[in-house]
Amino acid sequence: MTTNKLFPQINGLLHGGDYNPEQWLDSPDILEKDIKLMKQANINCVTLGVFSWSVHEPVEGQINLDWLSDIMDNLYSNGIYTILATPTGARPAWLDAKYPSAMRCDDKGVRNHHGVRHNHCMQSPEFREKVNIIDTALAKRFAGHPGLLMWHISNELSGYCYCDTCRKKFQEWLADRYDHDIDKLNKAWWTTFWSHRFNSFDQIDPPYSNGENCVLGLNLDWKRFSTWSATDFMRFEIDTLRAAGATEPTTTNFMEMFYDYDYWYMSKFIDVISWDNYPEMHNSWQSDAHQLLERSFNHALFRSMKKDQPFMMMESAPGLVNWRPYNKYRRPGVHKLISMQAIATGSDTVQYFQIRKSRGSSEQWHGAVIDHIGTNDTRIFKEVAALGSDLKNISEVAGSISNNKVAILFDWDNRWAIDDAWALSNETKNFDKTCMSIYNEFMSLGVEPDIISSDMDWDDYKIICAPMLYVLHDGIGAKISDFVNAGGQFMATYFTGYVNKDLLANLGGFPGDGLSDVFGLRSEEIDTLYPEDKNSIQILDKLGRASHSVEVYDYQEMLRDVSADVLAKFGDDYIAGLPAITRNSYGDGNAYYVACRTNQSDIEFLYREMLDKASIDYKKLPSNIEKHSRFTDDCRYDFYLNCSKSPVTIPNIYGLELITGKQIDGDLSMDGYDAIVIKNSL
Ligand code: GLA
Ligand code: ZN
Repeated sequence: MTTNKLFPQINGLLHGGDYNPEQWLDSPDILEKDIKLMKQANINCVTLGVFSWSVHEPVEGQINLDWLSDIMDNLYSNGIYTILATPTGARPAWLDAKYPSAMRCDDKGVRNHHGVRHNHCMQSPEFREKVNIIDTALAKRFAGHPGLLMWHISNELSGYCYCDTCRKKFQEWLADRYDHDIDKLNKAWWTTFWSHRFNSFDQIDPPYSNGENCVLGLNLDWKRFSTWSATDFMRFEIDTLRAAGATEPTTTNFMEMFYDYDYWYMSKFIDVISWDNYPEMHNSWQSDAHQLLERSFNHALFRSMKKDQPFMMMESAPGLVNWRPYNKYRRPGVHKLISMQAIATGSDTVQYFQIRKSRGSSEQWHGAVIDHIGTNDTRIFKEVAALGSDLKNISEVAGSISNNKVAILFDWDNRWAIDDAWALSNETKNFDKTCMSIYNEFMSLGVEPDIISSDMDWDDYKIICAPMLYVLHDGIGAKISDFVNAGGQFMATYFTGYVNKDLLANLGGFPGDGLSDVFGLRSEEIDTLYPEDKNSIQILDKLGRASHSVEVYDYQEMLRDVSADVLAKFGDDYIAGLPAITRNSYGDGNAYYVACRTNQSDIEFLYREMLDKASIDYKKLPSNIEKHSRFTDDCRYDFYLNCSKSPVTIPNIYGLELITGKQIDGDLSMDGYDAIVIKNSL
């Protein structure tokens, strides 16, 4: 059996969430009741101390952690474990009053006032000194506590600081990146354009909103630097805890498709990946199934960052959130579905923000396990408790992992660069959506993709799809060539291989870096369509005859020098008759190129062909059904999620259903929003 459980102390899955007893220290009756209610809800862990700095250290230097110690001990003696946060997501007022450098500067370089959270300068030496003191005190007191599972670093690290300290750090970071040679930077950023040459690194500002923000290399390097800066801060906190004796694993909670930082980089420096999942259910523009597929993509992204072990869903909302334009309650049954989707995709935890609702301030109306009424008979409490019991029934899945052979390439800097490029249409670039649409197409065929970066190991995959891979990191042309040569199926699309990692155009034809040979073509023009424009492609049969036509929208490329096999041709416009989808057999594999944007379901034939060539089994699922699998060495757990409110029956399912303990022998009947786990031996 695999033994990659995250927490050996826990026999099964984690169920719990953020708990803020510091808000109730004057109400011991409530604290006592909370423990009873948590036990009734089958909760076995809480996250403590997320925003507790002003209680830990009400006055500078006067640290009192006795309250926390009492709470942790009491929870532990009741079978509830603790994830302990460093409190650095928000700062006490005394800190900002005395050390203004702790406060962040906005994108015009103007210092913010005290308040909110994640409003600090992560490079401020004074701030770091205070962080060091409080983190050291926490680690000295609680490292090795039998109830302590892990350390949660800060909470939702985010944002950029444009202060002078950060400006200087940026200059140093650039000097390191460009070998202290300003000419290297000038070349990489193409600064002769618009007379933007620099003579020295200290002339370079961050991309202030009222300053230089048209040098694309500068914009991209600023995002890379800000990723480094936040990671540097996170590592500083981890090092501080370790130096004070903490040996427990670390995490920081990531956010959905987060834009500010490159999580591929940050994820290398933590032990466990966790993220906060807030689906916008029952919305007015998409089906529940589509909303859940977006969640599923996010789960896959976070799972793939450390795919040899489970990840954690660190937060989710019992019932509803309170920060959306419309804060709608989840309908009965949906709590189970959302929670089981996390487990299905590889999480070993279902955790909430929050256990008990705050009485006041801005999150007082955010969903919680325990509502202001304070009882166990609310709808939400009952759904949470039932889920806790379901999690116990499937506890054996803890530690099992995925085993996917298909991957979608998603690089943060590619995403940033596409958005920042003065090209295409800013209305329709839609890189994220394009990646998700490819994910959805595989999912509809019962095949679950991982999400990967250019730079990680691709050895486990037989099919890789790299939509809009505009930026090619160093060596990626050769890596793709090797992958295909060795028998892989690789799919690229329009807008591939246009620039190198510095955003300089690849010369000699796109896709660059040797990829024209791999795909057997060049792209000469990329054409942007207005929403009202229509084109089509004709899909060709095996004899090269047009079989049917498919709509093209947003983007189309004019290809030239095509030696690849043509699978579809443009139907209309000035490129009518030219190749639109191609397959180049190269070494032992195939390189596919899709030179236009279509609905992926309209080109399902391509997915079937890649899966056939890769010898991967697939089966079209009924609509609104998601299937995910987790594995141990000797068994497979198949999760079926009914993402709609209508009941459904799926034929040809066999195995033991773990939640109910029933043997399924053919037809699997599912209620609306139901989730089922089928176990089979391998
Ligand atoms: C985030 C934060 C929590 C809380 C929730 C509310 O995820 O980490 O502290 O504010 O949002 O949904
Ligand atoms: Zn700063």
